Amino acid sequence: MITRDMTMGQVVLENQKLLLLFPRFNLTLGFGEMSVEEVCNAHHVDVDFFLEIANAYLDMQYVPGEGLSLFSLGTMIKYLTATHTYFMETALPMIEEKIHRLLENSSLSNKEINLVTSFYHDFKKDVKEHINEEEQHVLPYILELEKQSALGHPDPSFITKLRNYSIKAFEQEHGRLETSLEHLSSLIIKYLPPFEDFQLCHQVLHDLANLVNDLIDHANMEDKVLIPRVVELEQQLLNRKGDE
Ligand SMILES: [Fe+2]
Ligand SMILES: [Fe+2]
Repeated sequence: MITRDMTMGQVVLENQKLLLLFPRFNLTLGFGEMSVEEVCNAHHVDVDFFLEIANAYLDMQYVPGEGLSLFSLGTMIKYLTATHTYFMETALPMIEEKIHRLLENSSLSNKEINLVTSFYHDFKKDVKEHINEEEQHVLPYILELEKQSALGHPDPSFITKLRNYSIKAFEQEHGRLETSLEHLSSLIIKYLPPFEDFQLCHQVLHDLANLVNDLIDHANMEDKVLIPRVVELEQQLLNRKGDE
């Protein structure tokens, strides 16, 4: 488990997976001997929030709930949105480019090539729709809920909305994106003829596995941390209104 007093450079050397998180916190390299806390402070990152996110990221068994409930929903949403940007602008285009190169230099039939491309195309479409729904509807609603909860007199029209809508509706429809990626890896490993460029094939599989982990971590953060807190806040606001 990572703690605030550890040397950031050493932490990263031992857990290079963490580098994937750095752009989401605007953290840059060149730490020297600075501790995790010093690096976070220098970049205006809340060190406790960073530790919760980083520890949950490194250990899938780690249950983030408690520590993360200390942070505002706004802080969490900022991180989740930065992760969406990472998926759309970095991870997906990078894998797509490698898959394209892999197929281009392969001896696969057109049918097999189409199978892989349409698999990836469908996955990308799902991710896009999923993220759009969250960024256009769900996350703005949560930010408004947090804002209204902080007010002495919440807007009555928001309370009316709350009586007819709960985040639970989103929770029921919140799909998992990693499944189709796992199918793609399985297709490459089990069923397609071997690729000539084994190194590139290995890189693609490695990137796919990283992205699967990242998507699971992200969905866990939304399902196990964000949504329960939103449900709690909705309830508090409705009860408060009932008392008045
Ligand atoms: Fe998300
Ligand atoms: Fe999601």
